[in-house]
Parts: sequence; structure tokens; C-alpha cells
Amino acid sequence: MSLKCDFLIKNICGTPSAVQFTYMRVALLGSGRGSNAEAILRAKQNGQLGRVDIVGIFCDNPLAPMLKMGPRFGVPAFYLDPGPFKTKFSPEQENFWANTLLSQQVDLVVLAGFMRVIKAPLLQAFENKIINIHPSLLPVFPGLDGIGQTWRAGVNEGGCTVHWVTSDVDGGRHLGQIRVSRENSDTLETFTSKIHAAEHILLPKIVAELSLL
Ligand code: GRF
Repeated sequence: MSLKCDFLIKNICGTPSAVQFTYMRVALLGSGRGSNAEAILRAKQNGQLGRVDIVGIFCDNPLAPMLKMGPRFGVPAFYLDPGPFKTKFSPEQENFWANTLLSQQVDLVVLAGFMRVIKAPLLQAFENKIINIHPSLLPVFPGLDGIGQTWRAGVNEGGCTVHWVTSDVDGGRHLGQIRVSRENSDTLETFTSKIHAAEHILLPKIVAELSLL
């Protein structure tokens, strides 16, 4: 009993530096519109993101509307050259991206509409630290145009998945899914909007959950 009291007293009287609130440093990577990045930035602004710091927006496309979100949300936004290929990095440029993110001491990389396959060295530098949002109920309909694939298959539901990124494209372990039903009255446009709305709920929720681990 007395031991327990000593322990308690030492903790209560400890210096403030004994209590540390660590923030998860998050990088948002994207290529285009950036509505998922915006959902995360909005959640952060509204205090719904837990212990998260958004260290920057990193785009592989100099014309990505997502870059404009930097000034809007007070977050640094960068265009980084991905190299000459359309859907993959050149090895040198992938090194450059990895080093840039390492220099920012990033804890979690969020692929929010990033249209490029990630390989070593980025995958190696951030092993088990990269997540992606995909607009289908993986493992079905991986790859490009998840919503179109779901729609054309005529199934009665679609949705979105957040998963860890591995060398297996859209194949890493799932962190969460939201199911979206396809009604008779749906058109491809309304179905698409419902899936995007689900993405904007799911991705910030998973980022917040990861910050609490
Ligand atoms: C989203 O549907 C996401 O699931 C997929 O690409 C799209 C990006 O949209 N990976 P946005 O740029 O976040 O608006």
C-alpha cells in the first residue's frame, strides 16, 4: 500500500515535462481534386481529428486543385516532381519523395487520391505507415475507377475502403469500410456522390483513430 502511495505522489509532483502529448505528423499526398484531403483538413479545423498535425500537402501534379487547399487551411502545400512516368515514380524521384517526407518527420502518409503506384524506397522508408482510400468494397474492384467498376457490375451495393499500403496494389490490410447501397433510383452520378460522401466520413475517422493508438 505504501509503495503505491509513493508512486502516486511521485507522479503528481513530477515535472510538467513528465507529461507529454505527442502529435502524429501526417502528410497528405494527392494528384487532383483533393476532396478527401479537404475532409481531413476540415476535421482538423473543427477539432475532430485527435492528436494530429498536418505537416503538408504533397502533389505530383502542379495543376492539382488540391494544392490550393494549403493557403485555405494554413498548411504548406508542395508540388514535388515525380519523374517522367504517368502512374509510377522514377527511382530517383521516389527517393527524393521519401527523403522529403523523412525530413518532415512524417509519422503517417495518407494517399488521398494519389494516382501513382508506391514502391521501394518510399514503401520501405514508411513501412506500415502509409494508408490509402479506395472507392470500392475491397477486395472487389481494385485498381482504376472503382466506382465505375462497381456500377457496371450491377451489384446492389458499393462503398469505400481505407487500407494499409503494401506492394500489392489495393491489397493491404483493411482499416475500415463504409457500405453504400445502390437504389433503383440511383444514376451513376448519384451513386458516385454517395460513395464520395462516405469517403469523406471514413478517412478522417481512421486518421483520428490511428492518432490515438
Ligand atoms: C477518391 O475517390 C479516392 O477514393 C480515389 O481517388 C479519388 C480522389 O478524389 N483513390 P479526391 O481527389 O480526394 O477528391
